Formats: sequence, structure tokens, C-alpha cells
Amino acid sequence: MSDNLFAREFFKETVFSDRNLMTPHYTPPILPFREKEIGLLSKNLSLCLRAQKADNFFLYGKTGTGKTAVTRHVLAQLNAFATQKGLLAAGYYINCRQHNSKYQILSKLIKEFFPAENFMGYSASFVYEKVLDFAKKGNQSIIVLDEIDKVKDVDELVYALTRGNDELVNGGLTLIGISNNLTFKDRLDPRTKSSLCEQEVVFPPYNAAELKKILQERTLVAFKPLVVEESAINLASALAAQESGDARTAILLLLRAGDLAEKNNSFKVTDQEVLAAKVRVEEEIILDMISSLPRQQQLVLLAIAELSLQSKGVRRLGLEEETKVLFSGEVYEHYCWKAKELKETLISSRWFRQYISELEMFGLIHTTLSGKGIRGQTRLIKLGFDASKIRNQIEKQLQAA
Ligand SMILES: Nc1ncnc2c1ncn2[C@@H]1O[C@H](COP(=O)(O)OP(=O)(O)OP(=O)(O)O)[C@@H](O)[C@H]1O
Ligand SMILES: [Mg+2]
Repeated sequence: MSDNLFAREFFKETVFSDRNLMTPHYTPPILPFREKEIGLLSKNLSLCLRAQKADNFFLYGKTGTGKTAVTRHVLAQLNAFATQKGLLAAGYYINCRQHNSKYQILSKLIKEFFPAENFMGYSASFVYEKVLDFAKKGNQSIIVLDEIDKVKDVDELVYALTRGNDELVNGGLTLIGISNNLTFKDRLDPRTKSSLCEQEVVFPPYNAAELKKILQERTLVAFKPLVVEESAINLASALAAQESGDARTAILLLLRAGDLAEKNNSFKVTDQEVLAAKVRVEEEIILDMISSLPRQQQLVLLAIAELSLQSKGVRRLGLEEETKVLFSGEVYEHYCWKAKELKETLISSRWFRQYISELEMFGLIHTTLSGKGIRGQTRLIKLGFDASKIRNQIEKQLQAA
């Protein structure tokens, strides 16, 4: 047996009692510090269990603040209750990173509504009518659109679903949109905005003490006893709180620290492992964020990375310290050149500005306004992360597409 290729890995000592519980696929059954948000959502959605349409909700807040975990938890509870009581209400979770158009989303819904039927290659209007047919049977459906900012034709989608709903006598469609893009709402058509955001819930970042409690509870179920030192938990919470108050970063720090403790055969998670995991975790989070950006926004970021790598195009300003910065205009020019080279359609300068503000919000770039002297007043852009890593990640994705 010991000759088998897998024997060593299979029998090796591990620090985890269940490593899966440290991965993003796991939704914890108890979510401390989110009682208020859970209460608001469940109170509203309980209307669906009483055969009424609930208010549409828009949930937003920075990355890792528990939006997905809270919604999945509430949905699982609602579905369990509705099944147990035989009620015609159910929640459907859609990740719009994977299903990013109205057609794809409605198609996914009808597959879930009518699992026994086979829907391949049907027209957009057929798919839409099928969604309404399901509601007309008296079903109250809650449609969760996670990462809704990734939907290309979001105005059309929300309009179709809310208009459909207005026509219904029986049944109903309740929407829950989720986004970590704080400027997303401003992009919406005013009508879409008022339909989608009947109620809004903002998820605040977690502070260090809250992250500590979250990590303590997670460590208890995912790690073997006495593996993780308390100071390591304190450090991981402090680092994540300092960065952004993001529970995903905090959990990932301990997961990678645990992996390191196994790799170096110490089987103890101490400050040292957490610190060693820090750089890799930051990189993982940033690269994942980049890979989820829309293609055109990736091209804007690629233009910034390429210009930052060239000494040409980079100005050195005589500030306290020499800072490499780019003029917004030259970034736009380089973006246009890049997009043409790749035969992509060009975005307008208005969209370009929008994408730049979002990249700043995600912490991928920093911008400042120049003084009046240089080319009038213009926006100066500086990359917030390693230029060659950004370029490599985007190029890899462009090749895969
Ligand atoms: N209150 C909490 N208690 C326990 N775990 C939590 C809590 N909030 C978040 N988490 C965990 O932190 C991670 C990130 O949470 P989640 O995926 O819900 O963030 P999000 O707000 O949806 O972020 P994004 O905007 O990036 O999608 C998940 O692994 C989740 O289980
Ligand atoms: Mg999420």
C-alpha cells in the first residue's frame, strides 16, 4: 500500500479537522454581527411564505462583509421552511459572474423552475414567458442576483422582471440584488434603480474585534484543537481589519497559514505563519478581483499596468518623494490603442471615467487631481499593486477568452 502514489498525502499529518470549512464554498450556520441584516431580510421575505410578493432588496457593501453568506443562509432557511410546510415559495441563487446576461439568467431560472423539461436554444421571449408561467401557477419566487453589477444588460433584466411582476395576479417575483460596487447604483436607469432598491441594506466592514470572534468560531470547527495560537488569530484579525474589514481575507490568512504549518512540519499556526501567508493572500485576493472585472475594465487596467512598466509615459513629479504617475489622458489613449489592437469595441470617455473611479474604489489604483499647472487640471493615476503581476494576470485571461 505504501507504494501507492497517494499513500503519503493520504496518511500525512494535518492541522485541519475539516479544511473545507475554511474555503469560500462553506456558509456558516451562525453569522455573528449580522443579526440585524438577517432580521431585515427574513422579515421581508416571510411575506412570500404568506403568498405575497416581498419588497425588492439591494444589498451592498465592501468585499468580504458577509453579503453572500447572509443571503445564502436566509435563503436556505426559507427553502427548508417552505418545503417542510408545503408552501409555494422558494429562493433561487444566481451568481452573475457566471450568468451575466438577461437571457442567461432567465434561462437558468426556467431550468430550476421546470427541472423535468429540457430548454435548449429557446428564444428570449419564450424564456421570459416561461418565467411568468411559473409564477402564474401561484409560486412566489425570490431571485437572488449576486454580483448583479456583472450583468451586461441589467436595466433590461430588472425591467423585464418587475414589469412581468406587475402583470401577475397569482404568484410573484421578488428580487434581491447584491453588489460590492458602491457606484453601481449610479449607473442604473432611474426606473431600474427605484424598482430594484425598494429597500437597501448596507453591510459595514468588520472591525478587528469582530473579525477575531469570527475567526475564533471558524478555527474551532475547521482546525484541530490547540493548533492555532490565540496571537495568530489576533494578528490575522488586525491585518484584515487594517486592510478593509474583510472576513474573506481574515479567513484566507488562517487557511494559508495552516497550509504553511503543514508544509514546514511545524503543525502550529503562530504569528510567523500568518505573516508569511500575508503576501500570498493579498495577491490571491487582488488577482481574483481582477479576474472578475468586465473585459473592458480589464483593458483599462492593462493600459495602466503597461504604461507603468514603460519608463516612457511615466512622469516624475517633484513631490516629497518621487512618485510614478500617469495622466488620465495618456491612459485613455493607450487603452484605445490596446482595444483596437485586440479588436474590442471602444468605451466612451464617460465610461472610462466610471471605470477609473471603480478601480480606485477596489483599491487597484490611486488617483489625485493635478495642480492647475500641468495640462490644465487632470486626474493623475498610480497603480496600487505590482504592475507586471497585473499585466500577466490580465494577459492570461485575454488568452483564455
Ligand atoms: N458574520 C460572519 N460570520 C462568519 N463568517 C463570515 C461572516 N461574514 C462573512 N463571513 C465569511 O467571510 C467570507 C466572505 O463573506 P461573503 O462571501 O459573504 O462576503 P461578500 O460580502 O459576499 O463579499 P464579495 O462582495 O466579495 O462577494 C465567507 O467565507 C463567509 O463565510
Ligand atoms: Mg459575495
